[in-house]
Amino acid sequence: MCGIIGCAGRESETLDVLVHGLSKLEYRGYDSAGVALAGEGLDVCKTAGEIDDLRAALEERSPSGSVGIGHTRWSTHGPPTDENAHPHLDCNREVAVVHNGIIENYQELRDELSTAGHEFRSDTDTEVVPHLIEDELADGADPEDAVRQAIARLDGSYAVSVVMSGVDRIFAARNDSPLVLGIDSDAYYLASDVPAFRDHTDRVVYLDDGEFAVLDADGYRVTTLDGEPVEKTEDTVDWDPEETGKSGYDHFMLKEIHEQPRALRQCFRGRVDELSGTVDLADLGDLSPRGVQLVACGTSYHAAVYAAQLFQQAGIPAQAFLASEYATSPPPIGDALVIGVTQSGETADTLSALREARKRGARTLAVTNTVGSTVARECDHAMYIRAGPEIGVAATKTFSSQIAALNLLALAITSVGDAREVISGLRDLPGAVQEILDTSTAQEIAETYRDAESYFFIGRGLHYPVALEGALKMKEITYKHAEGFAAGELKHGPLALVTSDTPVFAVVTGDDEMATKTVGNVKEVEARDAPVVAVTDGASDVERYADHVLEVPDTHRRVAAVVANVQLQLVAYHTADMLGRSIDKPRNLAKSVTVE
Ligand code: F6R
Repeated sequence: MCGIIGCAGRESETLDVLVHGLSKLEYRGYDSAGVALAGEGLDVCKTAGEIDDLRAALEERSPSGSVGIGHTRWSTHGPPTDENAHPHLDCNREVAVVHNGIIENYQELRDELSTAGHEFRSDTDTEVVPHLIEDELADGADPEDAVRQAIARLDGSYAVSVVMSGVDRIFAARNDSPLVLGIDSDAYYLASDVPAFRDHTDRVVYLDDGEFAVLDADGYRVTTLDGEPVEKTEDTVDWDPEETGKSGYDHFMLKEIHEQPRALRQCFRGRVDELSGTVDLADLGDLSPRGVQLVACGTSYHAAVYAAQLFQQAGIPAQAFLASEYATSPPPIGDALVIGVTQSGETADTLSALREARKRGARTLAVTNTVGSTVARECDHAMYIRAGPEIGVAATKTFSSQIAALNLLALAITSVGDAREVISGLRDLPGAVQEILDTSTAQEIAETYRDAESYFFIGRGLHYPVALEGALKMKEITYKHAEGFAAGELKHGPLALVTSDTPVFAVVTGDDEMATKTVGNVKEVEARDAPVVAVTDGASDVERYADHVLEVPDTHRRVAAVVANVQLQLVAYHTADMLGRSIDKPRNLAKSVTVE
């Protein structure tokens, strides 16, 4: 949660760089925002609301300075108000701090500082930081040491960035929250994520936990918090700044739904040999697990449920866990590989489950979209899904790419009898998704059922996680009640809720025994007069019992559910659009959930 940006070296443009950077980070939180510019003095502007509210506030004044920091917030301590917006200041208004994370010992520090006479203006945990720095400065520390010493007193997670009156440097530190530096020929940046400065440079340096950075117009330095120099390697990001714009689509979510064919091709590139029917993931090293445990949250959890079935079908015991529940009753590890599935790579619940697993001796693998993310750096192995940046809060292309990547992983570490067929199914997947994008009638379905109060989604086997995902997408962007069920469970309770006012989306592909059983469940629904939307390839006779059909091309059974899911993404998108919802930034949600 929360996005940080900093810029040193573009004096006349610092403010514009900060505000533009914040607009690229809004997906990390958008309930308040602010900037601080430092030079001879310190100028701060902050407000509750979105970046546009900050822009409006800045119209009445124009802060200037040679270095600057900015912040967009998703509340963890205190409501979204002007006072709680970052940057936070010390008593003398000479030190400004922005922070992403949670300072666990803030109450203790705040009590201590209050007793010493510091006055606090906000409810946030962050505000202790400028006051701690103020004390260190008053004790004679130079600015850099004052920040180091203050940071050393913090327990918890933080990406912190600091500017001060009369100091033309930015100080930054990270522990458990992301921070990346951007290197340009005439300017230096720092941010929670690369899109914040990608319009200016593609050269990046990822900070690690426990590191401290100093930036000014002439360069940057990285040390440990104690001041030991750290040699960092510069990376180059290989995606275009255009990719972080909407490219003509009304919403990032729709753009990202349409990017799926390309994202899937990207995921497979260089990893699949169709001729030999093999998958090459040699860069992961030798995994060969006897069992698999997957930990994940939300949409990524649905991908994990899907993948657990793939491993099971290949004879490897596998189970998917909600990451937030994993530590409450940790399963025996044995020789299991623990896989964290997380697009952002920063989800606190998932990181915490993986740390628990590592503590208990497990080997861990990150399946993530974010190179340089905390999960990628903490796990023994990392596999990237290569979906490109996903800005819409509702995960779409990353879900499809997670499943694609996990399919490759299952093929690489198990012996699947029909590997060649699966690989050819994967090869056809981008085209099948494209066909849906070109022909979908999801908008008509959305129009028909936009006024329903409640939606149900059912599926069996690999279609079950897709039913869960269809419901999650619907509820998070339409704000309507939606639930996904294993098709066979409907009759064990939820059927009581099924009426002529509750559309039921049934995901049924193929014509095997499972499909026949799901068709049986559809008949039960139809008998209660519920409208049925069948998402189907037409292989079974489900259409006979359905009011509407969303067609899915004939694909391999291991990928059919992904294709069906694209129809459900479009239904949720169009319903939310017709209802005028805030599609890319649904209320109460953030893209990257870095608190437990
Ligand atoms: C839903 C959604 C969330 C995330 C969840 C985990 O559309 O995006 O449910 O899937 O917060 O996020 P990651 O994958 O970043 O760990």
